[in-house]
Amino acid sequence: MRPRRQDHRSRPAVPGTAARLNSASALTRRSFLTLGTSALALGVCGRAAAASPGVPFGAAIQSDHFDDETYRQLFLDHCDMIVPMNELKFGLLQWERGEFDFTRADMLVDFARENGRTSRGHTFVWHSTNPPWLETITDAREGEAVLVEHIERVADHFRGRLTEWDVVNEVISNDPTRDASGALRDTVWTRLLGPRHIPIAFQAAARADPGAALVVNDYGLEPEGEVAEAKRRVMLDLVRQLQDANIRVDAVGLQAHLYAHFRVDVEGLGRFKEELERLGVGLTITELDVIDFQIHGGSRRQDRAAARVVSDLLDAVLAGPPPRALVTWGITDRHSWVDGSMPHADGTPSRPLPLDANDQPKAWYLDLRRRLTSAD
Ligand code: XIL
Repeated sequence: MRPRRQDHRSRPAVPGTAARLNSASALTRRSFLTLGTSALALGVCGRAAAASPGVPFGAAIQSDHFDDETYRQLFLDHCDMIVPMNELKFGLLQWERGEFDFTRADMLVDFARENGRTSRGHTFVWHSTNPPWLETITDAREGEAVLVEHIERVADHFRGRLTEWDVVNEVISNDPTRDASGALRDTVWTRLLGPRHIPIAFQAAARADPGAALVVNDYGLEPEGEVAEAKRRVMLDLVRQLQDANIRVDAVGLQAHLYAHFRVDVEGLGRFKEELERLGVGLTITELDVIDFQIHGGSRRQDRAAARVVSDLLDAVLAGPPPRALVTWGITDRHSWVDGSMPHADGTPSRPLPLDANDQPKAWYLDLRRRLTSAD
């Protein structure tokens, strides 16, 4: 089974629409507070253990290529943390209703553990890569039971083996200033349960794996412009609402799929990080890669553009207390979702990842490692 692709291109910012965010917001503080949650201990989870000093570096691995020994070795050569890219998604664990298949995910998580590396879990709740049977459910109570059972079974299975879980992924709408669904994306879970699927998911995860840090993960939080600014505001609101309801949320996950033709909003992202610090919430960079289909003129230009956005990202996230970890979405340009989802129109290969197609480190990656090592 291959997971479905999603279109990840964000829309351009539209001036004058920020004010609509509040009125369009489907997410209100009350919506969470009426949930009647039991007070959960606000656990503070430590940062992921690192083999090297500084901020732990990790990369996402794919079971599809696991037979390739050279590929496997790259993760051992470069990573403190090895993250299953797809294998912990709903549809890959529970393709048939009630039948959980942990084989591929176990293989990757155990590979990491046996080699003294950590792993993080991605993800319980997502609008994509769901099994068809899930989309046919129409009853809210049934939906809630399925959600809770999935999280409890999966989190319980991996308890003690994952430092973090992306409890929810991409719940913020693509453009909160414009989308008809308001602040939250329209998904099977919002259709069944509304915004309360988020606290329900966090509570189930906290019960099932009290030792894992619980993360709300999303994309498009890094660039300049009012759409990203709106997404950051929605994210902070979401975190505050969970906290108001005494629900444990330990970190925000910045996916950091960076468009090489956009600028990172270093100041805006820095302010966002400070705000999270004030709330006692950490930051993990969960899926860093560079999307360069707008950069023409050869690999040098692609890498120069990549170096700029990555360096700007680091300026923002390495200011103040260091992030919990930084994870790239793959390790080598030989295997990345970017060429499949956002290819160059003329067929030029993308250069999204730390190592090029010959598995040689790029200058921006070496610089990133230096900066992670000395950040502590
Ligand atoms: C992508 C994987 O990289 C692909 O292999 C898969 O076909 C689809 O999903 N944001 C996310 C990730 O949170 O789970 C996505 O991963 C990329 C975008």
